[in-house]
Amino acid sequence: MARGPRCVEHARRASRRVASGILAVAVAGCAGSQNVLDPAGPPNRSVNHLFWAMLIVSSIIWVAVVVAALWALISRRRRTREDLEPVVIVPNERHRREVGIVTGLVGATVVILLLFLVYDFTVGRALAERPSRTLTIELIGHQWWWEVHYIDPDPSKLMVDANELHIPAGEPVQVKLSSQDVIHSFWVPNIIGKRDLIPGYTSSLFLDADKPGVYHAQCAEFCGLEHAKMALPVIVHSRADFTAWLAEARSPAAEPSDSSAAEGKKIFLAGTCSSCHAVTGVEAYGTIGPNLTHIGSRRTIAAGTLPNTRGNLGGWIVDPQSIKPGARMPSNQLAGKDLRNLIDYLETLK
Ligand code: CUA
Repeated sequence: MARGPRCVEHARRASRRVASGILAVAVAGCAGSQNVLDPAGPPNRSVNHLFWAMLIVSSIIWVAVVVAALWALISRRRRTREDLEPVVIVPNERHRREVGIVTGLVGATVVILLLFLVYDFTVGRALAERPSRTLTIELIGHQWWWEVHYIDPDPSKLMVDANELHIPAGEPVQVKLSSQDVIHSFWVPNIIGKRDLIPGYTSSLFLDADKPGVYHAQCAEFCGLEHAKMALPVIVHSRADFTAWLAEARSPAAEPSDSSAAEGKKIFLAGTCSSCHAVTGVEAYGTIGPNLTHIGSRRTIAAGTLPNTRGNLGGWIVDPQSIKPGARMPSNQLAGKDLRNLIDYLETLK
């Protein structure tokens, strides 16, 4: 058995590798822009406290139950080995004590479950509480993209955007959710739990983020072929930045500054683009696809599918079906020069 010590060494190394792998995954899971265990706002923080309280208490109880079961097993085996006499059960002091212990443990279980229920109910109530004055945003789900309306008491100030959600930090924002086709689900793991977007029904939640940053929301309800490619960057601004961003976003699209972009605008308006997409301030009113008034400043295209680069934009316009099969965007066969002009125009839409 000369291989014995070597095998032990191999096993040790393998177990060390597995342990460091688990640790790496656990540490990586503690931060990030799409992580339910890295709360970035009061609602998710209170849910996290509830989660950890339940996990810790349940773990302690689980360990206690397993230890008690093992202890019972071992003591029973020892007894059967040592004592082969038949066991005669008579009500005695020990039996009464055991009944007392079992009754006490059942009572403790009921009390713990009741405490969890009250805690859970309190957190749920706090999440549903309506703050006095808030910004309201309407979020409408489509297969497979997000339509975003920034509501203002003055209807002429309504700002329509798509595939990006901008909110101010440090104040609750009401998000009203609905759907244009099938059931979707809005989920920003760092900020708030899931809420469904249901056709013909408007639900609502309050987003509240601590500080500026970029988070990642995802459709969390299977909604068809491209469900996985229905993401939504959530950009949290400081209040001053948000006010400036909204004022800028409400203004109509800028006029093209160079001849290539001007040519691109003509292609956009004459071709199929404007029959599906709207751009505020120009003769493009399509509502089938996302509003493109600010496409040039978005981080991603195709609802979080690709980074917003020139190359990706071109590839998406020419052959969206190979990137997101089933999406309603048709292929557009354009001459190279026309495509370049069109991209130049789209990039001016900030
Ligand atoms: Cu929309 Cu899944």
